[in-house]
Amino acid sequence: MIPAPPAHIPAERVVDVDIYRLPGAEHGPHAAWSGLRDAIPLSPLWTARNGGHWIVMRGVQIGEIYADHVRFSSRITIVPRDWGECFPLKPTTLDPPAHGPYRRFLTDALSPGLVRAAVPVVRRLAGAAAERVRARGQCDAIADFAVHVPGPLFLALAGLPVEDAAALPRYAEDPARGDGDTPAVPVMQRYADYLRTRLLERGQRPPGADLLGGLLAPSPDGRRLTLDEAVDVAVALMTGGIDTVIAQLGYMLVFLARHPAQRHRLVDEPGLLRPAVAEMLRRFPLMTKARLVREDVALGGVTLRAGEMVVLPPLESLDPDLFTEPMKVDFDRVPGRHAAFGNGVHRCPGAALASVELEAALHEWLARIPDFELDPERPPRMRSGILNAMLGAGLRWHPASTRRVQTGA
Ligand code: HEM
Repeated sequence: MIPAPPAHIPAERVVDVDIYRLPGAEHGPHAAWSGLRDAIPLSPLWTARNGGHWIVMRGVQIGEIYADHVRFSSRITIVPRDWGECFPLKPTTLDPPAHGPYRRFLTDALSPGLVRAAVPVVRRLAGAAAERVRARGQCDAIADFAVHVPGPLFLALAGLPVEDAAALPRYAEDPARGDGDTPAVPVMQRYADYLRTRLLERGQRPPGADLLGGLLAPSPDGRRLTLDEAVDVAVALMTGGIDTVIAQLGYMLVFLARHPAQRHRLVDEPGLLRPAVAEMLRRFPLMTKARLVREDVALGGVTLRAGEMVVLPPLESLDPDLFTEPMKVDFDRVPGRHAAFGNGVHRCPGAALASVELEAALHEWLARIPDFELDPERPPRMRSGILNAMLGAGLRWHPASTRRVQTGA
């Protein structure tokens, strides 16, 4: 039974939307969210699902809320709120000023030096994964390619055994999913257990320049993280940096499989990869995060009351008021600010790393497999949720059209 909406919610704002089962999301969560926005010209809307929450449909409003930690708290960033309250991860669920000191460890860890060091590792990992499937003529974009990049990369950068990647849980494929909803907690707990053991081992050696060593070293102002805090920050890094990149690579490969002219442009002009990745990040935003309303706020003709939850779908960069023909992928589009990496104090500290990972991985794929298409027998499997995930997509090609490239070259 879905509870009745609270009395102060106007009837015309009430929709029956479960963000974890958005109708049509299996064919593409972005079109499904955009369709809902176009069908009901009001924002915010209210749904009684997942504990009851507002859903903000307009790009400008979404950008403003991400940027406004004063009125919209990150204390709970997941609906239903009891899931969000289960795992108060630092620094994702902290607001300023508590957020700042932890955030500094993140930005130090994801330094420009680390991003530079990541490029050859990504090229080696992605090159080896593409080489493994090249002669087969078919593969699954996620299981056979995308999963082989960000997980092992994270472990390599953290100074951990790359073989551990196979045993790590996938946030997007939580085995605890019983009824289709995704309590993120069990997966995060498994990440935490793994990282606690590795941090304890890492603590036996002198702090170094690797990701985990950096979390154990004092910050420039002399502050040290406790073991629990270091585990939290490491979990934030790992949950933030693996399934996101996997899903994003999946969307990009599926787009390129469907659009040969744009794919050929990238093969012929590899210099175009950087703006193309930025444009595909805009067109296929992943996150549906939430915020807790701290004080009564007037928004779009209604009042959001203190204590209510507000959900931010991946619609900012798909808003026709902000982008011309937003559903069109245009590699020549003049870059503008978009919300793929969020906004405000929690804006993704891994944005630069993610961008170079995606660029280098696509480069390696296209160098070996420049001509590919979707396999009609195994269409893309997508899902709406906190992460609007790409779970799998069959690709196929003629082996004769591929090129052998030395891995790591
Ligand atoms: C395509 C890939 C990625 C996307 C789309 C993405 C998206 C986002 C978004 C939207 C946020 C803001 C969440 C909020 O405001 O509640 C965020 C935060 C975060 N991301 Fe990413 N991310 C990506 C890759 C990465 C990578 C590679 C890392 C690190 C290895 C990372 C680590 C984090 C962390 C630690 C936070 C929390 C920051 C804080 O709370 O201050 N992300 N990400």
